[in-house]
Amino acid sequence: MELGDLSNRRTDGQKRIKIAILGIGNRGRRYAYQIKRHGGAEITALCDKKTALLRGACQTYGVGEDMAFDSDEKFFAAGKLADALIIATQDRDHYGHAVKALNLGYNLLLEKPVSPVPKECEEIASLAREKNLSVIVCHVLRYSPFYHAIKETVDSGMIGDIVSVNDTENIGYWHFSHSYVRGNWRNEAETGPSILAKCCHDLDIIHYFTEQKCKEVYSSGSRKLFVKEKAPENAADYCLAPCPHRKTCAYDVEKIYYGITRYTVPKMSVHIKLITGLPNPKLKDLKESLKTSPYGRCVYKCDNDVVENQNVAMLLNNGINANLTMTAFSKGCFRRLYISGTKGEIIGVDAQNKFRINVFGGPSKTVKVSGSGIFGHLGGDKMLIHDFLEYLNTGKTSKRISFIDVTLESHRIAFAAEESRKTGMTIKL
Ligand SMILES: NC(=O)c1ccc[n+]([C@@H]2O[C@H](COP(=O)([O-])OP(=O)(O)OC[C@H]3O[C@@H](n4cnc5c(N)ncnc54)[C@H](O)[C@@H]3O)[C@@H](O)[C@H]2O)c1
Repeated sequence: MELGDLSNRRTDGQKRIKIAILGIGNRGRRYAYQIKRHGGAEITALCDKKTALLRGACQTYGVGEDMAFDSDEKFFAAGKLADALIIATQDRDHYGHAVKALNLGYNLLLEKPVSPVPKECEEIASLAREKNLSVIVCHVLRYSPFYHAIKETVDSGMIGDIVSVNDTENIGYWHFSHSYVRGNWRNEAETGPSILAKCCHDLDIIHYFTEQKCKEVYSSGSRKLFVKEKAPENAADYCLAPCPHRKTCAYDVEKIYYGITRYTVPKMSVHIKLITGLPNPKLKDLKESLKTSPYGRCVYKCDNDVVENQNVAMLLNNGINANLTMTAFSKGCFRRLYISGTKGEIIGVDAQNKFRINVFGGPSKTVKVSGSGIFGHLGGDKMLIHDFLEYLNTGKTSKRISFIDVTLESHRIAFAAEESRKTGMTIKL
């Protein structure tokens, strides 16, 4: 569904769209990078409370001091500074930031989840409608060539009507430990449940493919490993304390963040800026930070409470069954998809950038797509910015564009899944 009259999209008659970014951390920085690569817009204002990161980003993107804000209060007090605002702050801040921004007249690119509070999600959508502004949610998977090609296949009718969808979200033990045990999404009261934080993407993708609303949800899930009772004897509070178990522990910070061993590469080294809080950190800064940073903690001794594995069984309209399994415990970070239709099936692993189509009584074929690695969401970040800027510049929407009214379906299912997991009941929507 399309929202928003874009006749208001230019603030000064200049050719290039102006974009402001609130929160120039991991996500905000990636969007800034993609905007620069795209070239179809100009970043005119930046806001982040981490002043070192803010200064670094302003230099990189040529934003003047008068347009650099080290607090959200100052940023909003300055009025409307661009045609659109990207909100890439933390989950529980989205609501306050989105409401202020919509009231100022910004079109929004809003990070997911919209909010961990159901009422706040609905309020943002309703305010956008009232103001005739657009809110596009960063459901990046839709935009990646892998999921886009599957959507095209489904829509072509090649596999007939969808009967069931099975999606397994393998988070990767190293990724889970970083984000959901030590990091930003470890504690429900601070952020939200993992089924919302991690899997609103999957729930959105299921809705995107089937275009059917969910009628019923049943869910179960648990925490198995990252609990105090599982800590090995004499484990230190921080790996670099040092801990006597460093050699054998898969979650030792050296393996996760900076050292290469026979079996591991430090995939989470990409978060060096987040951990050190420095714009141009060196390896020695990272090692020093890990002695005291939350990211240096023993994974068995953190204040985490989000579940590590969860199943969600959904009954959609048209009698479609969908199942989602989220697990922390996989070596890689990937999603495995199986879609069965009345005339054929689609089987694929997103990280491989290919899927198989088997037509019953007909040919099978493998579809290969271009990708750009898991860190850009398989090309999703790039194409999200592409579609967002095209929409702002021309008003043209793509099939995959994730306006808030459509993508809130994923959030409603996640909230129902949590209710089901906690009460043991099937939830009707
Ligand atoms: N679309 C996706 O696939 C995806 C992936 C990861 C994270 N996310 C979401 O993106 C959002 C940002 O995550 P992140 O990993 O970039 O986090 P981050 O902590 O790296 O970045 C957030 C930035 O916002 C700044 N900030 C927070 N509150 C502020 C305030 N009041 N005023 C000014 N600056 C403020 C912080 O200083 C930080 O630099 C979260 O909502 C997260 O759930 C989405």
